[in-house]
Amino acid sequence: MSVELINIIEFLRLHQIEIQHFDEKFFIKTLEKRISSTEAKSYDDYYNILLSNTKELTELQKTLYINYSEFFRNSLTFSFLEQIIIPEIIRKKQLKKNKEIRVWSMATANGQEAYSIAILLDEIISKSNTDISYRIFATDIIKEEIESAKKGIYNTEDVENISLKRLNSYFEKKNNQYIASAKLKNNIYFSLFDVISDQMLCPEASIFGDFDLIFCSNILFYYNSHIHNIILNKAINCISSNAYLITGEAEKEILKKSGGLINLFPSAIFRVNNTK
Ligand SMILES: C[S@@+](CC[C@H](N)C(=O)[O-])C[C@H]1O[C@@H](n2cnc3c(N)ncnc32)[C@H](O)[C@@H]1O
Repeated sequence: MSVELINIIEFLRLHQIEIQHFDEKFFIKTLEKRISSTEAKSYDDYYNILLSNTKELTELQKTLYINYSEFFRNSLTFSFLEQIIIPEIIRKKQLKKNKEIRVWSMATANGQEAYSIAILLDEIISKSNTDISYRIFATDIIKEEIESAKKGIYNTEDVENISLKRLNSYFEKKNNQYIASAKLKNNIYFSLFDVISDQMLCPEASIFGDFDLIFCSNILFYYNSHIHNIILNKAINCISSNAYLITGEAEKEILKKSGGLINLFPSAIFRVNNTK
């Protein structure tokens, strides 16, 4: 590793960005993107930019923690949830005393994942004519993402995966923007949370976890295999028995290597066979 790269890594560590957790190729590619945007000529040059321009650290952090998301991202997985998984969870809950469906969206970005699952749950629960309720705990490591997710304000391009019927039922249109309804917001608890920190097992508001569904979608690609295990263990430790883990389409292979997870092919949903 070159000395200049070590300087950058050390600088990032001082600013609480632990590069050793990241997938190496992903980190170098991200760094090179920023080097080319700033027109730096070398790592050394870029290190000097980091030292002299505080905004560049924010830019690098933004590029490292890519926040791209979509409503109903991975339509096949959402169809599986709608047609098979959620109806099955509802049938099981009807036989239980505790009738709350509990969901954790681990890296929610600006909330599109959390609102998508809230829409599905609201629709299916309303049709099922039962007293089942739901709560979604949605977390992210970036404060601005959580603040934006709480507001739930999206532009026209953001909502293009949402049917007109759902847009009319669950969003208010104001000045060409779409605002998620209070009905959805009241069931989602957004909070700042680092899924690789060993400080907390699950989001504080959820107290004990016991989740029926956990989304760890499009977050594993940032990190190396050691961190994948930390994230997966965290999810498995606070998931309910015979519950489901949902990952990103491109991350399915990582989960397939983990013991105790059964992929519901061809979706990106995994049944977790833990007996609690
Ligand atoms: C590409 S977005 C994925 C959003 C959504 N899950 C999806 O699949 O569309 C990845 C998000 O993971 C968040 N993230 C990265 N590392 C994290 C960590 N250690 N703890 C919590 N969130 C994290 C980033 O801030 C970013 O908002």
